[in-house]
Amino acid sequence: MGDLSTDSFSLKTAFEERKQMKRDEVINAFDQWAKDGKYEKDMSFIGNKGVDIVTRAASDHFSTNKDVVSVIDIAAGTGLASQALLKLGFSIIDGIDPSQGMKDEAMKKNIYRDYVVDFVDGHKTVLETDKYDCSVVSGGFSQSLMPCNALYEIVRIVKPGGVICIEMIESNLVRVEEFVNRLEPLWNTFIEKGVWKLLRKEKIPDLVIGETGLLMVFEVLVSEVPIPQLPPLNNNERTT
Ligand SMILES: C[S@@+](CC[C@H](N)C(=O)[O-])C[C@H]1O[C@@H](n2cnc3c(N)ncnc32)[C@H](O)[C@@H]1O
Repeated sequence: MGDLSTDSFSLKTAFEERKQMKRDEVINAFDQWAKDGKYEKDMSFIGNKGVDIVTRAASDHFSTNKDVVSVIDIAAGTGLASQALLKLGFSIIDGIDPSQGMKDEAMKKNIYRDYVVDFVDGHKTVLETDKYDCSVVSGGFSQSLMPCNALYEIVRIVKPGGVICIEMIESNLVRVEEFVNRLEPLWNTFIEKGVWKLLRKEKIPDLVIGETGLLMVFEVLVSEVPIPQLPPLNNNERTT
């Protein structure tokens, strides 16, 4: 990973530091990062294109009647993707993220119908089965954030016929222990077992400086994933 740094922030350092952190420490770090607009300032510095890429993919799919499409922004953070969705014409937007500090910043934007504070990790959240037409994930699949099993919950809350749009740094597939030989095979198992259909898979050059991104768009085919979850690997899995 290139050393994307400001005087007070380095993406590489943040990634490395999270490797050692327990789940609650990770969330505490995001709580602090959200304060006084620091997270958004740092994102703007590194020129993260992911938010635009993933929200445009959602917009391309629902080319008409976006105002009646319900969207959940997963790992919504301070609401950067939700803001982009609003600009693109979506108006029924919910969020979910375990960091209260990130939510506090996001709520200042007056975008949300609902914003749930919880982990997406394979346990059942309060969100109903088949609730959404669309979900977007921007930056949620990275070191010590959402584990592979989060995909089970994302499928559960998106209705059959709905879509899941995910962007991530491609090299996370081989660099994040939780994902190595697990995340991509799980995507493919979902395709083989008829859980979802792959609509788009594209590489995004220079997603953030020097890093290639991956955009995936899946159409959901079932209400719940009918196969067992992966065994947990590390402290990023829910233990309760
Ligand atoms: C890099 S930020 C991305 C935020 C936002 N989507 C964006 O593009 O700016 C990652 C977010 O993932 C959240 N997160 C960490 N673990 C998570 C989990 N298990 N489920 C959902 N969100 C999680 C963090 O709290 C943080 O807000």
